Amino acid sequence: MSFDQSKWVWMNGKLVPWAGATTHVSAHALHYGSGVFEGIRCYATDFGPAVFRLDAHLDRLYSSAEIYGIEIPYPQAQMAEAISEVITRNGFDSCYVRPICYLGSGSLGLQSRDCPVEVAILAWPWSPYLGAEGLARGVRITISPWRKFQSRMMPTTAKACGQYLNSILAVRDAVSRGFAEGLLLDADGHLAEGSGENLFLVADGKLITNDERHSILLGITRDAVIRIARDLGYEVTVTTLEIVDLLTADEAFFTGTAAEVTPIREVDGVSIGTGGPGPITQEIQRVFFKATAGQDQRYSDWLYPVNWEPVMPETMLSTVQ
Ligand SMILES: Cc1ncc(COP(=O)(O)O)c(C=O)c1O
Repeated sequence: MSFDQSKWVWMNGKLVPWAGATTHVSAHALHYGSGVFEGIRCYATDFGPAVFRLDAHLDRLYSSAEIYGIEIPYPQAQMAEAISEVITRNGFDSCYVRPICYLGSGSLGLQSRDCPVEVAILAWPWSPYLGAEGLARGVRITISPWRKFQSRMMPTTAKACGQYLNSILAVRDAVSRGFAEGLLLDADGHLAEGSGENLFLVADGKLITNDERHSILLGITRDAVIRIARDLGYEVTVTTLEIVDLLTADEAFFTGTAAEVTPIREVDGVSIGTGGPGPITQEIQRVFFKATAGQDQRYSDWLYPVNWEPVMPETMLSTVQ
């Protein structure tokens, strides 16, 4: 994938052309990863593009920023409007949205005094993160040799730039060995999460997942799936997960904004269940995509409609006046 240079980026309060959305090499965040970000999806619905769980994503962005002492210079409502503006200006009906707030150029001391907080919002079309085939048929994954960092070392509930080096190590190792994704264990050897996804198991018709006590990011898709599963009448237990629970599960799947609800069909060569997407995973997937498409009234408050109007090319504006 390469980015479409004709698109616009919201940067520090205004829309700028893609190529103009730059930052200086002395930016603190480039050297130390001192930034926070979100990954959000906007879906096509019958009433136009709609951002999925925007409030929850912005709440997490602002709390990640608070943890790292990054003061976002815009109120949350303005960030929501800016996200809408980026989607509208670029004419997307569905896309992935990436707000990032990071320390810019000022000094390179670790204490980061004098560094301005820069804010940018990017958007681009992004197909299913673990592949359309993975979404339909399930993915083959591996248990990563890299452990998830312990939440007392860095707050795993925050989505901060530098923290992702751990995920990068895990996914690079997995892909280099022919797997779609790596599943990280926590420091004590319990299951934590994928490099960019939370984990669910299905056993005896019940769902099981873990929580922040196992150093995971508390995913917004995870939260949506817990609600969907309970609404479907399934029991959902939040507890410690062991490798053996995964290997003996009837079904397993990943959740995440990028990966959505992706079945796991194999772990290090061991088939999970029948080796394909299980029926409960597929049922949850179906309801999840109905919710994101605005076709299930129970979840309509999860969608933030973007008032999409085709933007008139600049060259035509003068003829209209
Ligand atoms: C490490 C990690 N875990 C879990 C998730 C899933 O979180 P969400 O469902 O909020 O996208 C992500 C993606 O944001 C992630 O990067």
